[in-house]
Amino acid sequence: MSRIIQRNGRKGYYLQVVVPRELREIIRTSAIVRKLSDDKDESLKIKKQVEEQIINKFDEIKFKHKFKKNASNNFIDESLKRKLYEKIGHHFFEPSNELNEKGIVLSYWHCIGHEVDFKEINSYQIIKFFNAEVIVHNYRGKLWAFENCCPHRGAKFLKKNLSTAQITCPYHGWTFTPYSSYIPRKDTFPEINSISEVRPKVWKIENINGFIFISYKPLFTLHDQLGKEVVNIISEIGQSINKNYSSQEIIFNCDWKIAIENALEPYHVSFVHKDTLAPLGISDGKNIFYDWASIFKDKIKSKKVKNSKKIFEKMLNIKYNFDGYWSLYLYPFSMISSTEATTFAHQFYQPYENGNKTSCLTKLWCLETAKDQYEETLNNFYKSVSETNLKIFQEDAEICSYVNEGMWNKKPLFFKSTLEAKVDHFRNCIRKFENLLKK
Ligand code: FES
Ligand SMILES: [Fe+2]
Repeated sequence: MSRIIQRNGRKGYYLQVVVPRELREIIRTSAIVRKLSDDKDESLKIKKQVEEQIINKFDEIKFKHKFKKNASNNFIDESLKRKLYEKIGHHFFEPSNELNEKGIVLSYWHCIGHEVDFKEINSYQIIKFFNAEVIVHNYRGKLWAFENCCPHRGAKFLKKNLSTAQITCPYHGWTFTPYSSYIPRKDTFPEINSISEVRPKVWKIENINGFIFISYKPLFTLHDQLGKEVVNIISEIGQSINKNYSSQEIIFNCDWKIAIENALEPYHVSFVHKDTLAPLGISDGKNIFYDWASIFKDKIKSKKVKNSKKIFEKMLNIKYNFDGYWSLYLYPFSMISSTEATTFAHQFYQPYENGNKTSCLTKLWCLETAKDQYEETLNNFYKSVSETNLKIFQEDAEICSYVNEGMWNKKPLFFKSTLEAKVDHFRNCIRKFENLLKK
């Protein structure tokens, strides 16, 4: 309801609009008054326009208030949580267990693979990061990384993973390369002045002797994040890797942190991997810790493995040699491991579906063959390693699905075996990241 009024002792004409009942308490008034004009005709002319502006404002306030109300209904207030936790002592009410997980994705460098995974022109890999995806793509020999989301109306460029394609959006054909953009019927977009302004969201990409790292807004330079020693190790391994034998995806029905912690401890091996990994005879091993990485290494007792090492050593050009089992964890999502330096495996753990699932992409990388005549024997060897690795990760995925939801915690482990020291290091990395955010 509205009307034109005149005010005592003031010149001109005013519009008075009644505030809807439900907004009176929020705005704390029952009517809004706005000056129209000193002239009566002019006031009548602009009345409708001013009235609309005020009504729009009412709608905006209504919407914001409704949103606020819903938001506060959905979450338990932190102080209430704390009180409940003190009273009941149950993890349902544990205060401040939430992490800025998307911040972890954006702030670190992620080792997503090796350039041998992208040998073919136009080959690509889609990486899942919660509800976003990043594509790493080989454009005429140049690798580039960008979000799988078209800047036009948000369609995915690609759905099928680990394949080859040019980057053309299937919806209206917007096409991108690292250097250029193309828009069909560009003449119908009068507001786009320069086509080069229209780009997908591009991520940073770096390469250390073949290993590919991506990040959106890293907190550190890649070398600072890894540290000198880790850079040296991966530089040597990177040179030795010659081809990608297989890439397989395993779905973990659990949070990524559960999957990572499982990969970081050998304590479960004798229970979970009785017939696959346990026969290698890995024991307690030794851990080395860095700021954002950790290494586990151990001798292998299995005679069978030792004998085959002697044979394969002659068939391969091994540049980075060692005995035993070795695994390098790169915070937050990557793991590189090897048995006797004859093959290398890579796992990249990707949180998705709001963090309730984790996709583990595991790759088997081979070294250079010393002579062509060994090709067949080596292929049989790679085949059996790849099959065993797949079984091991399926066993891991299965055991992780037993861990109750909500049981993960960023605090140091309550019951801690010395075999779980890397799990504590991981949690320490999580806490360190949170402290960095506070600075
Ligand atoms: S949404 Fe990609 S071209 Fe329209
Ligand atoms: Fe395991």
